[in-house]
Amino acid sequence: MPNTVVVGTQWGDEGKGKVVDLLTANAQLVVRFQGGANAGHTLVVGGKQFICHLIPSGILHSGKKCAIGNGVVVDPEVLLKEMDALGKAGIGIDPDRLTLSEKAHVIMPYHKAIDQAREALKGKDMIGTTGRGIGPCYEDKVGRMGIRAVDLTEPAIFRRKVEVNLKEKNHYLVNYLGAKPFDLETIVAEYLRMAERLKPYIDDLSNDFERIRRDKGNILFEGAQGTHLDVDHGTYPYVTSSNPVSGTACSGAGVGPHELHHILGIVKAYTTRVGAGPFVTELNDATGEYIQQKGREFGATTGRKRRCGWLDLVAVGDAARLNGLDSLAITKLDVLTGLDTLRICVGYELDGQVINRRPASLDKFGRCLPVYRNLPGWKEDISGARDLGKLPVQTRTYLDAIEEVTGVPLSIVSVGAGREETIVLKDPFGC
Ligand code: IMP
Repeated sequence: MPNTVVVGTQWGDEGKGKVVDLLTANAQLVVRFQGGANAGHTLVVGGKQFICHLIPSGILHSGKKCAIGNGVVVDPEVLLKEMDALGKAGIGIDPDRLTLSEKAHVIMPYHKAIDQAREALKGKDMIGTTGRGIGPCYEDKVGRMGIRAVDLTEPAIFRRKVEVNLKEKNHYLVNYLGAKPFDLETIVAEYLRMAERLKPYIDDLSNDFERIRRDKGNILFEGAQGTHLDVDHGTYPYVTSSNPVSGTACSGAGVGPHELHHILGIVKAYTTRVGAGPFVTELNDATGEYIQQKGREFGATTGRKRRCGWLDLVAVGDAARLNGLDSLAITKLDVLTGLDTLRICVGYELDGQVINRRPASLDKFGRCLPVYRNLPGWKEDISGARDLGKLPVQTRTYLDAIEEVTGVPLSIVSVGAGREETIVLKDPFGC
């Protein structure tokens, strides 16, 4: 029963979806443990493409169970839309295929309104959130006034909690943010209607874990966002409101640390970021444009153009320590094909000194300059390679440099979008 945790080592959008899809073949249960509908992964079903924000991509593999853990903040409207879209595409969803933790917190309409109104008020200082209500929902969770999935199964309790919340939220929305108030009855009616459909899925996740342990199955813990968006370890305050680091798989799903056997860090072959915040290796030039276009770097949730830059191995090195990475999966390596020279950032220069960790001070981080190592590019199409020996020598040099600088071995190299366009050096499940 070797369980694997998949985490992003950068600022999200590392291509976790493809790796999760690949690894699901050897997993019996796929669990999301943090984040919410701010994440997005593109799924292709029967030639039709759509984006899932909450349901793990493992749902495409028949017979695999997916679960949304207590650490996730769940927008019931988004979840039901995804279930419907998958149903239309022939992927039937029922409680045997999906569990929603009864302890997961629920995104309410006022969370989204507060998120959006706050960003508007901040103007040029905005975080650049996805506007999905993520921060305000986690605030309520920590403030012990949140509404949980289990409350959807208890209408009287749900109504009372919303009523109490609205007193405070409406005051804040109207008098501070200058936004519209919400009506109690409208929210209660809308949410209890959605609750009727969701009730059969709302359960204690421990039941799924018990079954998998009994059957000696494998669990795949699917992280969202990336290490540098972590509310504790990321580029605060330009972060999300959850902890995308691997340790959260324990608290956000409900298992002990000894049940996490392999921590797999996903590294995009270059760096991207959406939203605001310092970005040391950002390329505001033709190369950045080339990578953005070729990598189709648009936010899956907001459609925003992603900022692009060279691979920042200081950031990946930090991620290796913060997550306890056992191996790395390199994604979108094919996007770099065609560039004459590639650069990897192996240190930061801060006030004349070279450092190899990101400083916690945002001001200092903003002053960091990249220390680059130049590497030769390659022109050959690499998407057909299925082992390292088939890659051009320059491509192997690039991969060797990642291993050398981070000190973490590679287990997977993705050379194209397709499931088969992958070099598997070592299956994290040991299969
Ligand atoms: P929030 O999570 O919507 O509050 O947004 C906070 C920051 O995290 C913003 O910079 C977002 O662009 C970023 N963010 C949130 N989710 C993702 C993701 O899945 N990929 C990349 N960036 C994300």
